Amino acid sequence: MSGPCHFVVFGALGHLVTTKLLPALYHLELVGRLDEPLSFVAFARRDWDTERWRVHVNNALAEQYGAHLDVAAARRFIQRFEYVKGDYTDPAAFQHLLARINTPQPGICENVVFYLAIPPDHFVDVVRRLDDAGLNSVVGQHRIVVEKPFGTDLVSARELNAELRRHYEEEQVYRIDHYLGKETVQNLLVFRFANSVIEPLWNRHYIDHVQITVAEESGIGGRASYFDRSGTLRDMVQNHLLQLLTLVAMEAPASLDADALRDEKVKVLRSIRQITVDSLNDVALRAQYEAGEVNGAVVSAYRDEPGVADNSNTESYVAIKFHIDNWRWRGVPFYLRSGKRLAARHTMVAIRFRDPPHQLFCDTPCENMEPNWLVFAIQPEESIRFELYAREPGLSMTPRLLRIDTNYRAEHEQPLNAYATLLMDVIEGDRSLFIRFDEVEMAWQVIEPVLRHWSQTSERLYSYAPGSWGPKEARALFEKPYQSWRNQP
Ligand SMILES: NC(=O)c1ccc[n+]([C@@H]2O[C@H](COP(=O)([O-])OP(=O)(O)OC[C@H]3O[C@@H](n4cnc5c(N)ncnc54)[C@H](OP(=O)(O)O)[C@@H]3O)[C@@H](O)[C@H]2O)c1
Repeated sequence: MSGPCHFVVFGALGHLVTTKLLPALYHLELVGRLDEPLSFVAFARRDWDTERWRVHVNNALAEQYGAHLDVAAARRFIQRFEYVKGDYTDPAAFQHLLARINTPQPGICENVVFYLAIPPDHFVDVVRRLDDAGLNSVVGQHRIVVEKPFGTDLVSARELNAELRRHYEEEQVYRIDHYLGKETVQNLLVFRFANSVIEPLWNRHYIDHVQITVAEESGIGGRASYFDRSGTLRDMVQNHLLQLLTLVAMEAPASLDADALRDEKVKVLRSIRQITVDSLNDVALRAQYEAGEVNGAVVSAYRDEPGVADNSNTESYVAIKFHIDNWRWRGVPFYLRSGKRLAARHTMVAIRFRDPPHQLFCDTPCENMEPNWLVFAIQPEESIRFELYAREPGLSMTPRLLRIDTNYRAEHEQPLNAYATLLMDVIEGDRSLFIRFDEVEMAWQVIEPVLRHWSQTSERLYSYAPGSWGPKEARALFEKPYQSWRNQP
């Protein structure tokens, strides 16, 4: 399929489209990556027409870009849009959409992208209605973009996939995990596979353990109706954290071809040691935040958040340990954690190297030498930090820790919205940064025993103070007395 000429956005008035998709698409316009014939169709149920919608887009961009908005590019971008009013449950609305897409435009291609930026409960309805209305049989080819979460467990993910596959081939389905659109996440691949000095160190002989942290300062905000049914294990670990783990642990792919890359990620997921009921309490831990004070503001306990049940067992914090049973990683624990209302917002991958086999400098003033760490700060800080020792200037042979820091981005280089890369890939048909179904399936299989167990018991649900780094009990996951959480990049 060459590029699409119609790009239909469902959920056009939702949070995701307003805050992420519109700015990302505008960016593609700005840098000249949108082909002339490409038009966007915004599908939403508000009683608006195209003119009203275009004003909305203009306002959303003005709010995001302020004085930096390129007025000419914004005008070109806005002119690409049409608005179709409709409810997902209304077959007539899909007929309107069909008429819009079928409107003959001589010399223009017939390929279509459908982007489901909608609540997951509606994915199946919309896919069925597209087919019922004949939208999948209009001339040309189709791609469908599905937002996360892809299912709520293994069974529902398989059901959703079966429904999608009734209407589309796997090659047409683009499952989004927007973490893969982040430049600093893609940088993990470049750092690992473009530097020959890294590969010899990247294994159980030199690495003691790996930590992956996705910490948020905020609570659940207004998302209780979604979050209280989901929890951090489903919302963060099944997708973002396990994706980061695969990028750290995968073998070099044969090429950057979408399937070559994803084959290697799936192999990692397949090699994760299965969590059993017996091992569960030793490897996984959940907690909820208590009431408290953060930056001078009083904040509610998780269970007192509006929309959360008084007896909710949903975890706002997870710490979990995985072992990858393959030649490279056998014996190297991967400690993952994610939580809300923690001390700071940051995402990082921290690699802790083994201690030197013999401590030559143990009699110097630097007796308690830290190990070497390699830290990838992914957001908001974007850097790679290598901690190494060198001799301290002066008369004595004292080692001093050097932090070799590289900011990922030079001062003049603006951060790119993660969706810009992903949307470009959808338009160009590159699936490398999208999740293949076997990845989704394996990721659900990895966490399924924990999900099942936690849904059946309220035991061992710990609590933590807001503004802290989580429950003190999370320390128990570490296998060695010298291991501990690294809280700062
Ligand atoms: N927001 C994010 O940052 C983010 C990040 C990652 C993934 N996602 C995923 O992206 C998807 C969308 O999230 P969101 O935050 O944008 O949700 P949202 O703000 O609730 O937007 C959903 C949109 O769907 C519309 N809608 C709901 N029922 C409808 C119906 N029957 N007919 C027509 N329109 C209907 C709503 O219309 P009204 O405006 O008329 O109510 C709303 O505009 C979800 O799958 C979410 O998990 C979101």
